[in-house]
Amino acid sequence: MIRYYEKERIFKLDTPHTSYVIGIVDEENFIGHAYYGPRISDAGVGALMRTDEPPFVPSKNNRDRSSFLDAFPSEYPGNGVGDYRESAIEVLDANGNTAVQPLYVKHEIYAGKPGIPGLPATFADDGDCETLEITAEDAILHLEVKLYYTAFSDVDVITRSVRVKNLAKEPIFLTKVMSAALDMDAEDYEMLTLHGSWARERQIEQRKIGYGRQNVASTRGESSHQEHPFVALVSENCDQEHGRVYGFHFVYSGNFLAQVEKNQFDSLRIIMGIHPQDFRWELSEGETFFAPEVVLTCSQQGLGGMTRTLHDLYREHLIRSPYKDKERPILINNWEATYFDFDTEKLLAIAREAKESGIEMLVMDDGWFGCRNDDNTSLGDWTVNEEKLAGGLKHLVDEVNRIGLKFGIWFEPEMISPESKLYRAHPDWAIALPGRTPCRSRNQYVLDLSRKEVRDYVYEAVASILRSANIEYVKWDMNRQLTDLGSAVSGARGQGELLHRYVLAVYELQERLIGEFPDLLLENCSGGGARFDPGMLYYSPQIWCSDDTDAVERLKIQEGTALIYPLSAIGAHVSDCPNHTVGRVTPFETRGNVALAGTFGYELDITKIPKEDRAQIPGQVAQYHKYHALIQSGDYYRIASYSKNHAYDCYAVVAKDKSEALLTFVQVINRPNYHSRRIRVPGLAPQKRYLLEPGGEIYYGDTLIHAGINIPNMWGDFQSVRLHFTEVTEA
Ligand code: GLA
Repeated sequence: MIRYYEKERIFKLDTPHTSYVIGIVDEENFIGHAYYGPRISDAGVGALMRTDEPPFVPSKNNRDRSSFLDAFPSEYPGNGVGDYRESAIEVLDANGNTAVQPLYVKHEIYAGKPGIPGLPATFADDGDCETLEITAEDAILHLEVKLYYTAFSDVDVITRSVRVKNLAKEPIFLTKVMSAALDMDAEDYEMLTLHGSWARERQIEQRKIGYGRQNVASTRGESSHQEHPFVALVSENCDQEHGRVYGFHFVYSGNFLAQVEKNQFDSLRIIMGIHPQDFRWELSEGETFFAPEVVLTCSQQGLGGMTRTLHDLYREHLIRSPYKDKERPILINNWEATYFDFDTEKLLAIAREAKESGIEMLVMDDGWFGCRNDDNTSLGDWTVNEEKLAGGLKHLVDEVNRIGLKFGIWFEPEMISPESKLYRAHPDWAIALPGRTPCRSRNQYVLDLSRKEVRDYVYEAVASILRSANIEYVKWDMNRQLTDLGSAVSGARGQGELLHRYVLAVYELQERLIGEFPDLLLENCSGGGARFDPGMLYYSPQIWCSDDTDAVERLKIQEGTALIYPLSAIGAHVSDCPNHTVGRVTPFETRGNVALAGTFGYELDITKIPKEDRAQIPGQVAQYHKYHALIQSGDYYRIASYSKNHAYDCYAVVAKDKSEALLTFVQVINRPNYHSRRIRVPGLAPQKRYLLEPGGEIYYGDTLIHAGINIPNMWGDFQSVRLHFTEVTEA
């Protein structure tokens, strides 16, 4: 619900448990931030805006205008006119100046939420949210800046985005357009972020906030393995259940900046948006730039509260796929099974054996096209290699279907190998700088998707393959980051647009794809999980989480991922041992239990794995079917973290109606002479009784919540148990 108090010139945005307050200040119409936090009453809300203390406000004390601007909590800070903190917007005007200062002009409040042209964004029915649109303007530049705020009524989320329109005759360059800025008193917050690398994505890090600017960012052209477009402010002593947490998440898949700045007054400024490095966007008269969306959430129930809010938001208001609430087919992918060394017969042998075990889909990974027998060639040549696939793709798909499995396929549409027919025909289609040989990464270049003819080629290449056979799943991969940022056709003024246009192109391509193939199950991927972000979730309901399929490494990767993403979005597979990335040997059962906290599937040669492992697959498949609905729609509780205690990991998923819960406990390291460990099971209903499987005992909810359950010490490392609690309804 959003209200405007005209006399006080205050906007109050409420979600079920939070409030966000904005004030318009002074004759000059500065747009100020007054409050964001747990929900507050409307009465007296006007007093939250600091306007009577010195040096406030300029109209009464213009002698110290700079002091005002230096301290004012701004909703969208301008550049170069007195506020020395990080600005939200910066331009290069016809005079070569960079200053800009958007001031309030008017506003509108309405039911519902507009989409953002060309960009992913959360959505909701008109009854489930309201939007505040503040129109601001820099009257000198004739630059209009519209700030969008949407307050949801079913989740504690406020979203923000920005549109900048050039009302002047002269073109102007935008050199920075952040999507959100938030100024608040510092208190004792720490900063929680997610960092990583290939095979080690989204590791949680928490640090003290020092004076000055600290940020995470990507300038790699994608959201990246290395840092994540997310930052949380976490109060002192906050844990999974208690304490205040602010989460900021960027719905975008390219370069980003997420920064916290602590200033001389112990205030914090958080900003989030497209990274200004290498960004320069020309706006001609009447043109608008759309900045992507930021999701803001505030929890008083610690990190767990934030987690569950974001899971609900993404499940209900971001993922669009028809598979959103459907059971996903259990797939077997041949990457770790065969790498490039496969043919029709090998794939069919895997499919036959998979069918016997209850697996439902075969996914053919990299290596089926051009002359691709290793990763040095053929990206861009999306024609079936009939030496490998004798009889062609349709024959293979038909045979797989006849066996009783669905069929899925891998693409890396955004890339071009220097060793390819496509590159020989169109060397200028690769992103490159004049006179410089572009950096190779995995021996490939990136296509200049800012060009329409390149996008059309890429689209047709993918779509014509999909039209040629009954293909029900696509893994859309992206295996290198961008360098040598030059487009052969954009001209000098357009080079600074390449990175953002690239991301828009990826969105456009995927939008076209799901438009033409609405029933397709699309899984995004980027060298594992380098483009696991809310932007991509708008197009695909699941994203491959990491190339590291080791169950123990996955505990940490999936902990960081599940901190902000629903389990239904997390691509997780059981693979063979010794694990191909780390060489670790873990029990097949544990690999299955860990993959169950995701989309679940297999990534191994089922015709070759040990018989004892093979024999466990039907049981795992049955578990998946049994728990899938719960895992897909339930509330996630993080109970213990191996990355913190270095010994064991534990989490649970509890049904929304609290009628059942599934708890997974992994004893990573067995330590000598320990007795059983008492684990509390949060999220249950205290008054309900629950039947435990395995075991058959009945427990009261309050006992499980407060006292917990004893999990015996297990023999060996990497052991795991799954405990399933179901409500007992009869007397
Ligand atoms: C990336 C993906 C893998 C696999 C390979 C194929 O690394 O993350 O799952 O598809 O590419 O080259």
